[in-house]
Amino acid sequence: MTNKKPIAADRLPALLRAMPKAELHMHVEGSLEPDMIFSMGQCNRVPLAFPSVEALRQAYVFDNLQSFLDIYHAGTTVLKTEQDFFAMTDAYLARARADNVLHAEIFFDTQTHTGHGTSAETVVKGLYRACEEAPARHGMTASLILCFLRHLSEEAAFECLEQVLPLREKIVGIGLASSEVGHPPEKFAKVFARARQLGFRLVAHAGEEAPASYIWSALDVLKVERIDHGVQAIRDAALMQRLVHDRIPLTVCPLSNLKLCVVTHLGQHSLKRMLEAGIVATVNSDDPAYFGGYINENFVQTFAALGMTAQHAYQLARNSFDASFIDGALRNKYVQHLDGVFETFE
Ligand code: HPA
Ligand code: ZN
Repeated sequence: MTNKKPIAADRLPALLRAMPKAELHMHVEGSLEPDMIFSMGQCNRVPLAFPSVEALRQAYVFDNLQSFLDIYHAGTTVLKTEQDFFAMTDAYLARARADNVLHAEIFFDTQTHTGHGTSAETVVKGLYRACEEAPARHGMTASLILCFLRHLSEEAAFECLEQVLPLREKIVGIGLASSEVGHPPEKFAKVFARARQLGFRLVAHAGEEAPASYIWSALDVLKVERIDHGVQAIRDAALMQRLVHDRIPLTVCPLSNLKLCVVTHLGQHSLKRMLEAGIVATVNSDDPAYFGGYINENFVQTFAALGMTAQHAYQLARNSFDASFIDGALRNKYVQHLDGVFETFE
């Protein structure tokens, strides 16, 4: 860190909000706010099981990942047109930029939407247009990562990959999401090998609810470059060593872990221990419309609960650029911007 003076503890929330950062783990469908769900539902004549925006918001109480995925899926049924996918992504980008996110790598899935009769082309074109326009509209960059749904078969993932091949240049990477327990990474060994041959960058959710063995197989079988969540690694010393040694980033989502009962309170979260063990950890919002906050809320609440410092803040922001899939020149530009904020912060 390059700041000249120590930063007072009461100025830490302002620093966390002001610092430039990248967001590497958010599902764009999880940024659909209840009012947008209602307005799109009305426009597209999709009936919803909730009588009002407020009633929908009140249903956002979860016991585990599956209880969240069920309600999240209901929200996705309102998305129909290319413009809907554009509008959802553009709204997220505006919100992220307000949190000083300079670069976002956005998860989406096509299988949910093709399952509702919408083509993969409609989905990807709408999302991509928002990313393409992000520099002009919001002064930031954004790219797309397609997540296969792990509760479906590997054959279905292959079909999904085929459908997006004509849109290959619009997608930077492939990931793996949805119900984790019982659907280990190795179930998708062949389709990830194919995606790798095609030049996609690879990531996977692992060790969110399922044990550390899922993280080992995401690394050794799928050969992913980053692990999404990965919080169960703290229980496996050999895995922690591997993650540090190979500089495998973890995209950690503290408010998601709290809302899905992976931890009972934020004071129990392993983020600080991981960072101090040398893990390339980052902070992210996962599904911000459902989990009680966008990226800065994740930073501010977690830092307060764990007694983290400006040094941790710099490291997390720096890690977010280092772990991203942007090219070296853009990374240097963003890191310089980060250093500038730390040098001049009062
Ligand atoms: N975990 C797994 N799959 C998901 C999530 C998550 O937190 N959000 C959306 N799909
Ligand atoms: Zn996720």
